[in-house]
Amino acid sequence: MLNIALPKGRLGEKVYGMLERSGYGCPAIKENGRRLIFESPDGSVRYFWVKPSDVSIYVERGAADIGIAGKDILLEYSPSVYELLDLNIGKCRMAVAAPKGFYDDRTRTLKVATKFPNVAKRYYAALSRDIDIIKLNGSIEIAPLLSLSDVIVDIVETGTTLRENDLEVRETVFPISARLIANKASFKFKTEEIEELVSNMRLQIKKDD
Ligand code: PRP
Repeated sequence: MLNIALPKGRLGEKVYGMLERSGYGCPAIKENGRRLIFESPDGSVRYFWVKPSDVSIYVERGAADIGIAGKDILLEYSPSVYELLDLNIGKCRMAVAAPKGFYDDRTRTLKVATKFPNVAKRYYAALSRDIDIIKLNGSIEIAPLLSLSDVIVDIVETGTTLRENDLEVRETVFPISARLIANKASFKFKTEEIEELVSNMRLQIKKDD
C-alpha cells in the first residue's frame, strides 16, 4: 500500500483528480465530512489530507511515502526527500512586493515581512543586502501598510491581493508549481509501485500552451 499525503484545499483536490484519472481512485474521499484518512477499496493507496505546509514533514519522516508540495515549501524547509515530478499545477511565484512608489534606500537595513524567512534570507544574502526579517503567518500584505515592514516576500498568484492593497511586485524570486515528492526509504523499498504511479501521473500533466 502507498501512503499519500495530499495538501488540503483547491490544489489537493486538483491533484486528487489527477490521481483518480491515473487509476488511484478512492470514492470515499469525496464525502463531505471531517475524516482525514481514506483507503482505496482495493487497498492499493491510503490518502491523508494535511495542511499544505506540513506535507513535506509527513513525507520526510516516512509517515507518507509520497506527497504533493509546492516548490515554495520545498525551498523554505529543504526537506530531505526526492522530488520526482513537476505537476505543472498550483502555479504562482515568490516575489518581493512593496507599496507603490516605495524608494529602496540601500544604505538602510531593509525590513522584510514574510512567511518564508529562509527563502527571504537566502535571496537577500545573495544580493549582500542587510535585512531584518519579520516572520508572520498570514495576511503579509498588511505589514508594509502599517509600517511594520518596508517590503514583503510572499506568494503572488493572480496579483489581486497586492492590487487591492496598493502594493506592487518589485522582483520575482522564483516560479512555483506543485511537485510530487517521495520519502527516500520508501523509494528504495517500494520502487516499483512509486515508479508506476509517477509514470501514470506523468501522463496527466498538462503542458503549457
Ligand atoms: C496567499 C499569499 C497571498 C495571496 C496571493 O495567501 O500569501 O496573500 O495568496 O494570491 P493572489 O495573488 O491571487 O491574490 P493565502 O490565501 O494563503 O492567505 P494568507 O494571508 O493566510 O497567507
